[in-house]
Amino acid sequence: MKKSNLKIAVIGTGNRGCKYLTLLREAGANVVAVADASPARRQKAVEIAGDSCLSFPSATQMLESGITPDAAIIATPERAHAADAMLLLDAGAHLLLEKPLATTLAECEAIAALAKKRNRIAGVCHVLRYHPYFEKLHELATCGKYGQTVSITHRINVGIDRACHTFVRGPWGDTAATSPMLLSKCCHDMDLLVWLTASTAASVASTGGRLFFRPENAPLHSADRCTSCSIEQTCPYSAVDLYVRRGEWTAGFDGDTDSIAEALKNNPYGRCVFRCGNTTVDRQAVVTGFRSGAIATLTMNLFTATDNRDTHICLTGGEIHGNGSVITVTPLKGLQEIHDFTDTVAKPFHAGADRRLILDFLNAASGNSAKMLADIDSAIESHRICFAAISAMR
Ligand SMILES: NC(=O)c1ccc[n+]([C@@H]2O[C@H](COP(=O)([O-])OP(=O)(O)OC[C@H]3O[C@@H](n4cnc5c(N)ncnc54)[C@H](O)[C@@H]3O)[C@@H](O)[C@H]2O)c1
Repeated sequence: MKKSNLKIAVIGTGNRGCKYLTLLREAGANVVAVADASPARRQKAVEIAGDSCLSFPSATQMLESGITPDAAIIATPERAHAADAMLLLDAGAHLLLEKPLATTLAECEAIAALAKKRNRIAGVCHVLRYHPYFEKLHELATCGKYGQTVSITHRINVGIDRACHTFVRGPWGDTAATSPMLLSKCCHDMDLLVWLTASTAASVASTGGRLFFRPENAPLHSADRCTSCSIEQTCPYSAVDLYVRRGEWTAGFDGDTDSIAEALKNNPYGRCVFRCGNTTVDRQAVVTGFRSGAIATLTMNLFTATDNRDTHICLTGGEIHGNGSVITVTPLKGLQEIHDFTDTVAKPFHAGADRRLILDFLNAASGNSAKMLADIDSAIESHRICFAAISAMR
């Protein structure tokens, strides 16, 4: 990569923003400013980025202070993406935007149009494109050796622990404050389907909704909170079991096991899953007819023991099946091939995909390539399919 001294800003320094800061630092990038609404998050971000990095409560205040970054990463919650993206593009920055791009199609299209008008790089954090396992899946599906893709069956097994933590009790349980799950979680998967088919959608159909986590399905003798529930010990969705007995998904909690148990008496994560008032779907299927002729079915399901993605691709010359770790290619004529990524997928930062994403952004923003692998134009297509499916389901 050509050496560059791009001035970089990171807007939103929570979970994702801090990961990107760590990777930017590793890459020797010049992070001049961070912006986050939370003082504690800003302070943590400066500790990662280095003392010379300035911090601000918002992107607006950063720009008003006279800092004009050459490139910016936006990792705020999805409802804040569009305004800051437009502001930073207007100020002349190249952009890397967390997914989903924005929460309406009009906003997504406006960001893409402004990036084009200003001739700026605009990439989206669709990390699957940079993930060694998905890169292999893409290579096998598009190399031509097994013919043309006819259909794809893609399953997103959310995993019940992730589901209860993030999409029922957590912020994404309230789709009005965040976004529908198809957009917030599955836009990665829709992007994968667009990438695998190298095509655009001709038709989209969808069905789904919230079947189970409703007050009327709450078991007899269950309580509003797991900490005072008489049947908690046998409930597969128990918060006490998840956070206290198993000690999983506790990154957002402060203190030891006793403090976590105490916190569950009052915080959102101790609520009964049947009485959270969540609005998110618990399963959704989308069938997309692509202009290439391929048909893709995406099924997202909360009620799975495992947390993985399973993809089955039928081509005119064979089948490719990936279970999230191992890819098996079965040609209609010839020998079966196995590609085992079990060790790779266990590696941190999405198996190194986050690092490759950041390097791709730095490379493109430095003028070494015309666009990123996860470019906004392909992301617009996958977001368009998600928005179409969300309205088709209603
Ligand atoms: N690419 C991926 O694999 C992946 C994974 C998880 C989350 N995400 C996406 O990353 C984004 C951030 O998610 P997260 O998990 O880091 O959330 P987070 O809550 O940990 O971090 C968001 C940060 O933004 C700050 N913030 C909120 N509004 C702001 C504003 N207007 N200006 C400045 N700061 C503001 C918050 O204080 C917080 O520190 C979301 O869009 C999410 O969907 C992407």
